[in-house]
Parts: sequence; structure tokens; C-alpha cells
Amino acid sequence: MASLMGKKVVVVGGSSGIGLGVASAALARGAELVIIGRSQDKLLKARRALSSDDQIKTVTADMTLEHEIAAAFAGIGAFDHLVSTAGTPPPGDPIAETDADKVRRFVDNKLIGAVLLSKHAARKLRPGGSMTFTSGINKDKPPVPGGAVVSAIAGSFSYFARALSLELAPTRVNIVSPGWVDTPMFDELVGDAKASYFEAMAARLPVGRIAAPADVASAYIHAMESDFTTGETLHVDGGQRLI
Ligand SMILES: NC(=O)c1ccc[n+]([C@@H]2O[C@H](COP(=O)([O-])OP(=O)(O)OC[C@H]3O[C@@H](n4cnc5c(N)ncnc54)[C@H](OP(=O)(O)O)[C@@H]3O)[C@@H](O)[C@H]2O)c1
Repeated sequence: MASLMGKKVVVVGGSSGIGLGVASAALARGAELVIIGRSQDKLLKARRALSSDDQIKTVTADMTLEHEIAAAFAGIGAFDHLVSTAGTPPPGDPIAETDADKVRRFVDNKLIGAVLLSKHAARKLRPGGSMTFTSGINKDKPPVPGGAVVSAIAGSFSYFARALSLELAPTRVNIVSPGWVDTPMFDELVGDAKASYFEAMAARLPVGRIAAPADVASAYIHAMESDFTTGETLHVDGGQRLI
């Protein structure tokens, strides 16, 4: 296992939720941290939450815009590990009511974003480096109806990582697939109903509770540190696929 001590880790989506959890865990293991997101306010708030000094670099960039990602990575220089948890809530319309523009925006902000990040990170990663992207439980347990698009996109990530891990070898490429995690995205998705959703799901899950970002962050740390893990999808869902 390669330690993260002194390694430069870039977390796209590091200003909130799962990404903020990954940033915190990487920092605790001695990584030099860069967090990327679209909102500078969110980035600065996250930086304050993560550390009392200014050792964390924040970069404002939208991963769907290639010139912004190219400029962001040019400013960051060479680095060791890329993690992306960036994404927006999925469209949940039944297929007969699907708005194609809404779907395109979602695909852009999830899959195309990952493609652009990979393209520009591949030029910057040092030997021994890795990329880790995020899929999710919706590919295994699609919300029905309205789950077809998110299921397809989340499912595609495993195949993306398998192919890319061969193309970019020896750079490692992996996916983390979380179950439900208590984050601001969940608030955005279900609002005041969150407590009742979580209570009902926690009662069904083998682990008996909903994940906090720190619970899934450990899988991203493993993906970065385990230099024998590549092309893999790490499921961290508290047994949600089994119920
Ligand atoms: N929470 C769950 O239960 C759960 C379960 C399974 C999978 N997931 C997946 O895990 C990922 C993270 O979810 P989360 O719950 O941590 O969400 P979150 O709290 O809303 O965080 C999303 C992060 O992504 C950033 N982001 C979004 N679009 C971006 C873009 N185009 N360019 C750069 N940064 C962007 C956001 O910052 P800005 O808004 O400032 O850009 C924010 O930092 C998502 O892809 C989600 O689908 C979540």
C-alpha cells in the first residue's frame, strides 16, 4: 500500500458531501489537497471546515467545460491522485415524460465531466497515480419508475474504468459505488422527507444505518493507496444491493 503522505490529491466535488468526506480523510493521511467545484463560496466554506490554515488549494472550475478543466489542471501542475465525486441530482421522470435536454445536462454533468477530467488528468498524473470516479446504488437498485437514465449512466462507470485502466496503465482507474449517503444532495432530492426515508432504509439495511460521508470516504482512500487495485468498482452500500 502506498501512503498518501505528501501526495498531491485533487478532489473534484470536494466542497460538499462525499467529496468533502474524501478531502477530510486524505488530509488526515497527510495529503496535499486541492478541491475543485463550481461555487467559490462552497469551496471557501469547505476549506474553513477542513483546516484552520490555508494549506488547502481551492480551484473554481466546471468539469463540463473543457477550457475550465484544462486551465485548472495547468494551474495545479503535476499531481498524484484524482478523485471525482462531482455530480448533480439525476432526472427522475418516467421515460414517457422524459425531457431530453434535462437528460443531456445530467449526462454532461456526470459522464462527460468524467471523460474531460480523465483526458486532462492523464497528462498530469505522476507515476503511481490513480483516478477514482463515483457511480452509485441506482444502477443496482433503480428507483422505479424514473430510474432508467440514472441507472444507465451509473452503470456505465464500471465499464469506463475497466477500459481506461487498460488504456492508461500503469495509472490505476477505479470506481466507488455508494449506497445512500447523508449529504446536501440528498436534502436537495427529497427535502423534509429525508428523515423518514433514512429511517425506513436504515431499518432494512444489514448495517442498520445510513452512511455518513466518512463511511464511504475510506473506499476512495483504499482506491488511491492500494497499488494493486485497478479497473475495479468498490461497492460501499451497507448491503443495500442485497435487500
Ligand atoms: N448522496 C448519496 O446518497 C449518493 C449515493 C450514490 C451516489 N451518489 C453520487 O455521488 C456523487 C456526490 O454526491 P454528494 O451526495 O456528495 O453530492 P453533493 O453534496 O451535492 O456534492 C456534489 C459536489 O459536486 C460538485 N459539482 C457538481 N457539479 C460539478 C461540476 N460540473 N463541476 C465541478 N464540480 C461540480 C459540487 O460543487 P458545486 O455545486 O459548487 O459545483 C459539490 O462539491 C454524485 O455524483 C452522486 O450522484 C450520491
